[in-house]
Amino acid sequence: MAVDISPRFLFKRIKHSVCFFIQRRNHVKTKWAGTRAKRPATDLALQHFDATYSLQLGDLWPSVRIGMLSEKKYGALVNNFASTSDVISGFHSKGCRDFISAALTEKPAVEPELHDHSAAPVSSNIQCFVFPRGDISRFKSARPDSNGLLNYYLLDAASVLPVLALDVQPGHSVLDLCAGPGGKTLALLQTQVVRFLWANDLSGPRTVRLHRTLQSYLPRELLMEGTVHVTSLDGRQWRNKEDTGFDKVLVDVPCTTDRHSLMEEENNIFKRSRTKERQMLPLLQMELLLAGIHAARPGGDVLYSTCSLSQLQNECVVQQAVSLAQQEMGVRVEVQSLCSFVQLFSHTFHFAPQPAVGELVLPHLCANFGPIYMCKLRRMS
Ligand SMILES: C[S@@+](CC[C@H](N)C(=O)[O-])C[C@H]1O[C@@H](n2cnc3c(N)ncnc32)[C@H](O)[C@@H]1O
Repeated sequence: MAVDISPRFLFKRIKHSVCFFIQRRNHVKTKWAGTRAKRPATDLALQHFDATYSLQLGDLWPSVRIGMLSEKKYGALVNNFASTSDVISGFHSKGCRDFISAALTEKPAVEPELHDHSAAPVSSNIQCFVFPRGDISRFKSARPDSNGLLNYYLLDAASVLPVLALDVQPGHSVLDLCAGPGGKTLALLQTQVVRFLWANDLSGPRTVRLHRTLQSYLPRELLMEGTVHVTSLDGRQWRNKEDTGFDKVLVDVPCTTDRHSLMEEENNIFKRSRTKERQMLPLLQMELLLAGIHAARPGGDVLYSTCSLSQLQNECVVQQAVSLAQQEMGVRVEVQSLCSFVQLFSHTFHFAPQPAVGELVLPHLCANFGPIYMCKLRRMS
């Protein structure tokens, strides 16, 4: 029998072998899939960030990436309700400085632009100490004073910036829509000028932590006199509530908490089981921001913040909410410039070069704070 070696026949044989090989390979892979080790959520987060942030941040991404994968730097928010003179002199002796009062006395690292007339307000009662640039020393845990109140609260120093940008003035009423575990609530109260503060968080356990924070840092009399009101509600409900007319509203939304997602498996939103929840975040964030805008009085300010670098969760949410506020609520909202504010703090933090709206603190090995995104909005009508 003659052997068919025509090109057509050979091509068929090769095609058959390749198909068989692919089928075998897929067959084996399917078998493995059930038993293969799950990829850590931290790996999935890094893969996702590499894909999106390298496009978003370009040449800046490698340095931000190293910062986020390294130990973060803390700030010590001084508790003005406790005895703190020893603590403050201790901070000074270690070379730490209050980055807020320092900003008011130092020359800005970047000269203000001549055309920028935006205000650079600073609630001067807030004190937050940090170690100098490049110094990666850690703060000791806070200790109770003679009245049992803790003398400072450790937090990412950049997370004080949204509170400072809100610029709370004497007699203001403030709504902290997503408040747990209470770092920014505590910073708001350190201004010592708030007339009334409503701190809310949807999560029961986070609200318990919020209560615990307030009890550990505030005198019992202040808690009893009704200055602070704590609830555990879905913040989105504020769109239908009559408790509105706040002078200032902080909307510090749930987000991909980028640093946490890169470092911790526990409660990691990049777990495959939480994919849907993660994809729905921008919608939830926008609904919370719209609720915050609804809760503010005309002329009042809303501060939107996240601890993510994601444009989808930052600028896109703000831009979408501003246009929906007009379309659906008939409310005009204006984005407020934070340029001077950023220049004031550019000795301490690295800011991203001009996001479309708002400001973004970028992690950096020499000043490993953030990421923190913030955008200040004024409700005009
Ligand atoms: C970034 S954290 C807030 C951190 C807090 N502001 C602080 O400085 O300690 C976001 C919070 O939003 C809460 N949250 C999530 N969905 C919410 C909702 N629909 N309404 C109100 N709070 C919500 C979460 O429980 C979480 O505590």
